[in-house]
Amino acid sequence: MNKSIAILGAQWGDEGKGKIVDLLTEKSEAVVRFQGGHNAGHTIVVENKKTILHLIPSGILHNDVKCIIGNGVVLSLDALSDEIEVLQKNNIDVNGRLFISDNCPLILPVHIALDQAREQKKGKEKIGTTGRGIGPAYEDKISRRGIRFGDLANQQNLHEKLKELLEYHNFILKNYYNCEIFDIEETYQNLLSHYDVYKNYLIDAPLYIEQLFLNNKKIVFEGAQGSLLDIDHGTYPFVTSSNTTIGGIFTGSGISPKRVDYTLAIVKAYTTRVGSGPFVTELFDENGKILSERGHEFGATTGRERRCGWLDLVALKRSIIINGFTGICLTKLDVLDTFPKIKVCIEYKDNKPIYKEYEGWQKSLSGIKKYSDLPDKAKIYIKDIENFLEIPIDIISNGPGREENIIINKFF
Ligand code: GDP
Ligand code: IMO
Ligand code: MG
Repeated sequence: MNKSIAILGAQWGDEGKGKIVDLLTEKSEAVVRFQGGHNAGHTIVVENKKTILHLIPSGILHNDVKCIIGNGVVLSLDALSDEIEVLQKNNIDVNGRLFISDNCPLILPVHIALDQAREQKKGKEKIGTTGRGIGPAYEDKISRRGIRFGDLANQQNLHEKLKELLEYHNFILKNYYNCEIFDIEETYQNLLSHYDVYKNYLIDAPLYIEQLFLNNKKIVFEGAQGSLLDIDHGTYPFVTSSNTTIGGIFTGSGISPKRVDYTLAIVKAYTTRVGSGPFVTELFDENGKILSERGHEFGATTGRERRCGWLDLVALKRSIIINGFTGICLTKLDVLDTFPKIKVCIEYKDNKPIYKEYEGWQKSLSGIKKYSDLPDKAKIYIKDIENFLEIPIDIISNGPGREENIIINKFF
């Protein structure tokens, strides 16, 4: 039996990770985020009620699950506070269940301003970031200029660090981007007031997580973004600024690679992407519009329209090699219900897709719980993907709701 499962997006994000993390945390005791920040938008639908999480792990809807934010996550305390407030309004209490690594680098308002100023200056060449300050916050971590959550405990040091950081960035904001600059005292006071509220959430995460393992607790590791947005292995420079692939779990939470028993690839039955960058199977025709409309493909964080296209098995094969996935969860299969023909890219030629075409099943998959009840044409589509990728499809998701799944292999 697995003690821990890693859940990672295998495409460009928005594959349905949040829904599956919520589903699998039902049988686990803790869920850990290890990279990214509030650029993520993870949607969970329970009894028709939609919850979108950005920073807080997608186990929070289960009352007895511990939610841990690891050191690899860049933390905006303003965003955290907003998200906790929304959850509280919905009667979800995070107190005593949410734990945050003292090593989390902080996203400050200056990082958000820098992210947006850069994108604006790039104009047409922009990356299409979420504008949440993710890139600049990770840069400060790597440059060793950053402020970590645990630094807020030492006020004297904090003030000095903050002064140095803001003087550096303010110079660039003012002289290079011609933008407003940030006041040191205001930023300092804002950080201290957050610290007062959230200091009890601080943990030494690697030791905390190890203790859970030693007590035989089951743990889910929740990826954000997708493998093709990885800073090293993605479609650089049109990527996010963290390691979204498997290695991010170990550096971003401080656990040993030996601790992950099963790695689940979340694969949408077609492809979407938000922001700029290459997308070989992108559709600009009626089929693209149908995918967008049936899949409600609008960003859960920025509300931007997602670009849509057919499934790209070439790109997925690469994700599988890099992550060493154990199995696949194929999501949003129901979105393909109405298509008379469905295409899948099996090769690139001169950067253009070569497709294999399938007959659509043209039946609603809604409500199906057993693999054997799927239409034969859907089974052919699923089996072919499995054969090409050479790993099993262990769950199929056929609707946004928590219960809308066909579970082929149990995880816990
Ligand atoms: P994440 O970022 O990977 O967690 O994914 P998002 O929440 O950004 O986007 C996935 C969207 O698809 C959300 O609106 C989900 O509610 C929805 N969704 C997830 N699984 C399914 C599914 O199997 N079928 C359909 N129709 N919608 C789904
Ligand atoms: P979830 O976790 C889809 C994309 C942005 C942009 C690029 C860089 O919901 O799957 P950033 O703000 O991270 O510097 O932007 O990455 N991006 C996402 N796309 N889903 C996400 O998260 C994303 N997070 C960032 O659109 O192209
Ligand atoms: Mg999302």
